[in-house]
Amino acid sequence: MLLQENIPLAPMTTLGVGGPARYFAEARTPADVREAVREARKRGLPLFVLGGGSNLVVSDAGFAGLVLKIETGGIEERDDDGKLVLDAGAGVEWDALVGHAVARNCAGIECLSGIPGTVGGTPVQNVGAYGQEVSETISNVQALDLESGEIVELCPEACRFAYRTSIFNTAARGRYIILRVSFALRPGAAPTIKYADLRHVFSKQKIEHPTLEQVREAVREIRRTKAMLIVPGDEDCCSAGSFFKNPIVTVSEHQRLLAVAAERGYDLPSFESGEGIKVPAAWLVEHSGFQKGYMRGAVAISRRHALAIVNRGGATAADIVALKDEIQAGVREQWNVELKPEPVFVGFTGQP
Ligand code: EPU
Repeated sequence: MLLQENIPLAPMTTLGVGGPARYFAEARTPADVREAVREARKRGLPLFVLGGGSNLVVSDAGFAGLVLKIETGGIEERDDDGKLVLDAGAGVEWDALVGHAVARNCAGIECLSGIPGTVGGTPVQNVGAYGQEVSETISNVQALDLESGEIVELCPEACRFAYRTSIFNTAARGRYIILRVSFALRPGAAPTIKYADLRHVFSKQKIEHPTLEQVREAVREIRRTKAMLIVPGDEDCCSAGSFFKNPIVTVSEHQRLLAVAAERGYDLPSFESGEGIKVPAAWLVEHSGFQKGYMRGAVAISRRHALAIVNRGGATAADIVALKDEIQAGVREQWNVELKPEPVFVGFTGQP
């Protein structure tokens, strides 16, 4: 296995900040993954597993260990009890998998069109958008268990999926390297049109029963307008997507926020979720003195979505963290709410 040294990580991330990897390797097969793990152990190096780099903030110092880029590809199909199961390598580009599912006329992940990153990253934070989450279709996750050294098959219950979380980014963080993910899709089924933005597109177009392909296109278009679709040359998409999670609050906390908002003459938007009441972080940001386009040197809030922090060119990770801190402090002061960052931070001492 080829171990490269001092490889810049910024170009491998959508945000484009941060220093180099002390060591860097690419894994095209599960055997490569095992070898890299052995090598890291032998040299006493910490290991970081890199997928599509779309949800990452790399520190300016870089990562003083081995960064393993997962490139295991391949999409295989099989029938299972009326479902079409797609087994996809962790390194497959996520949107290519969604395109594949839609082309095969299978429902279940069409609303997740246009999300950057790779398949292996999706179970980690239970990727969700426009009314779907991957937890609804994942039937199996194959992973290398670093504790036992065995390749294991995890069922959805074992993954303990919830809003933007799973065991992979909570209780078992760092224990597994995801190798393959299986999605059980519904052949010929209707698309999911739950999300207001999506409903709105089709009611405007007077389309009562959109196809999966039409939903895929509509989602990509909505994402494009919010700069949440990677379009080369579009400054506003040099980001890590949503920078904060939407806070999920209790009924009494929600009442408090509604009252504070009403006092200030605002109508706080909120959404029921299985886990509590979701309050849009983007709204809190905008109502704490941070407008879309707010700039602080080389970093800014996106001009098209208040939840994205954008590298306007030449930004450092420290610049990103400074704006993150400023926004969190503003929201804390105005609303007494703690916004939690959504991306993964690499090479920082402690979670910034
Ligand atoms: N809003 C604002 N200002 C904005 C944008 C939104 O006030 O600039 C308010 C509005 O009230 C709007 C509400 O926030 O109705 C929700 O906005 P949006 O539909 O854009 O979704 P979001 O809650 O900001 C979440 C996900 C996105 C996902 C969209 C669509 C999180 C942290 N983010 O964003 O995921 O694409 O829903 O489902 O849950 C990501 O995680 O990187 C990501 C892009």
